[in-house]
Amino acid sequence: MSNGLKDAALIAFAAALLVVGVVTAPDAPAAAPPQIDPLSKECIGCHDGASGPDIKVNLRNNPSGHGSHVHSFDGEHPIGMIYQSYVDMKPGYKPISAQERNMIMVNGAVGCLTCHDPLNPAKGHLIKSDKNSALCLTCHDK
Ligand code: HEC
Ligand code: HEC
Ligand code: HEC
Repeated sequence: MSNGLKDAALIAFAAALLVVGVVTAPDAPAAAPPQIDPLSKECIGCHDGASGPDIKVNLRNNPSGHGSHVHSFDGEHPIGMIYQSYVDMKPGYKPISAQERNMIMVNGAVGCLTCHDPLNPAKGHLIKSDKNSALCLTCHDK
């Protein structure tokens, strides 16, 4: 992308971090309707197909729902889940270790920043390499 856009993206990101602060405590109710957190909103605002590659938003939060099959991944992972409630209520989800310090969740909810670190220049701007599904296996047990 152009350097201007890249800078704009980083500035928007930094501004968003300042506005909401980074809250990792899962203090939202377990089965509240999912919401798009303010940081993810920043990303989606640009990733609308006009200013950045389009991303479809798949909002969920239903830790007591059935099934946790991980069939495939096409780059559109659901967001909005209060992660700790999945760990508590559903098989297949691992507690996140304290070492995953750059895995950001706003009020406990999975969002774009849970997997992406825009400041990491590597391909995909992931918070860590997904070699051998390492990123996925931070949460999913298979
Ligand atoms: C100011 C607009 C803007 C904002 C805000 C923005 N992006 Fe982007 N992003 C872009 C554009 C444009 C591209 C295409 C870059 C390219 O093809 O080199 C891109 C590319 C990406 C890519 C693909 C990079 C690759 O290596 O293929 C990822 C992942 C990404 N953005 C994630 C995010 C996330 C997560 C956020 C929120 C923290 C975000 N973006 C916020 C404009 C933006
Ligand atoms: C559970 C982890 C996860 C979450 C949550 C997530 N992504 Fe991604 N995303 C990935 C992975 C993994 C890739 C593939 C990266 C690669 O290797 O290039 C990817 C790829 C992308 C790409 C580049 C490919 C494409 O489809 O254009 C963009 C842009 C992107 N993500 C934006 C977002 C945005 C915006 C959000 C929030 C709405 C988001 N992602 C949420 C893991 C995630
Ligand atoms: C932060 C923890 C976390 C990470 C990291 C993560 N996931 Fe997930 N994933 C979840 C949760 C929670 C759900 C359950 C969403 C729901 O209620 O359906 C889920 C659901 C899914 C689903 C089911 C989607 C559907 O349409 O039903 C797939 C497939 C998936 N993840 C694949 C992946 C892959 C591949 C990766 C690595 C790139 C990954 N996940 C990384 C937490 C995570």
